[in-house]
Amino acid sequence: MAGSGRAQLRQRDDILLRVEDLVVEFPVGRHQVVHAVSGVSFDLAEGETLGLVGESGCGKSTVARSIIRLNPIRSGHVWYRGKDLVELDGKDLRRVRPDLQMIFQDPIASLNPRRRVRDIISEGLAVWGDEHGVWSQARIEELMEAVGIDPRFGERRPHQFSGGQCQRIGIARALALDPKVLICDEPVSALDVSVQAQILNLLEDMKARYGLTLIFISHDLAVVKNVSDRIVVMYLGKVCEIGPADTLYEQPRHPYTRALLASIPEPAPTVDVSEGNIEGEIPSPIAPPSGCRFHTRCPHADEICRSEEPETRLVGDDHVVACHHPVEVGVELAPV
Ligand SMILES: Nc1ncnc2c1ncn2[C@@H]1O[C@H](COP(=O)(O)OP(=O)(O)OP(=O)(O)O)[C@@H](O)[C@H]1O
Ligand SMILES: [Mg+2]
Repeated sequence: MAGSGRAQLRQRDDILLRVEDLVVEFPVGRHQVVHAVSGVSFDLAEGETLGLVGESGCGKSTVARSIIRLNPIRSGHVWYRGKDLVELDGKDLRRVRPDLQMIFQDPIASLNPRRRVRDIISEGLAVWGDEHGVWSQARIEELMEAVGIDPRFGERRPHQFSGGQCQRIGIARALALDPKVLICDEPVSALDVSVQAQILNLLEDMKARYGLTLIFISHDLAVVKNVSDRIVVMYLGKVCEIGPADTLYEQPRHPYTRALLASIPEPAPTVDVSEGNIEGEIPSPIAPPSGCRFHTRCPHADEICRSEEPETRLVGDDHVVACHHPVEVGVELAPV
């Protein structure tokens, strides 16, 4: 069945999080809906970093927010350790939800300007933790130290810190509940280039230190490629392609993935720079195109692309593509 998530999902024992056929729609006005996420499936093995990439508005944040139940979900499942988070409520959700934390694109706006840093870092405890629990000063200082903020600054407020420091505080807040999965939604997009590398390094360090599994969201495939083990490419609420980061970089099969890769500073030799010249605007998610949603901008589109939604097909090891005409990549794979 077109849109079924089966091909996107791996059969492995160490899958920690599995998003299956996720559909999210937002009503606008009286009669219209934004088809923000239209049947997205992917999974995440313990300890992996999964990159989620695509142009602005393709539904990346909506997927992220759905996983932590900040969005209404039309249908689908979010499996975490054998439980469907979509079905959980009340106490059951409170028990699991601390395991999944998120850090946000705009570090300054995501921190309450009136609160002191130590109280910001404790926020999650009040919301999701043991309601009678209080963190010790030592625990807060340990977190501040871990993210590279001087523990003596706990009484300060967000405006006394730079953007990069605010993101460090946001990371400390997310880590405070001892999460298993950390969802980073464009964590460096708002930061100066020089600071971006520091925050990316910090996330790598925190991942290793606390044994985290990461979802790393960005519109920038160059950043995603460097930090991810696997990559999910989205376009207009759908998954185009999923694969190991190296495979996707060297052997991208979907014309949209190839277009994104052609635009990064050092594309693989298997991608021609001219493939980055896709024409036109992203169509409205209120009235997405028929068939393959990418057909209005795809240089390979023909009749079937206009009328039929492509199945998601396995084209290599853990490599799937949703395209009627996946590009043949003329590179011999080295024998293993
Ligand atoms: N609460 C909402 N109400 C109505 N439409 C929404 C809502 N949240 C998101 N959308 C719409 O859903 C679509 C997907 O948005 P989303 O924020 O998930 O995209 P994104 O890939 O994260 O984009 P960006 O790169 O700009 O952050 C967009 O068309 C957006 O306008
Ligand atoms: Mg977003």
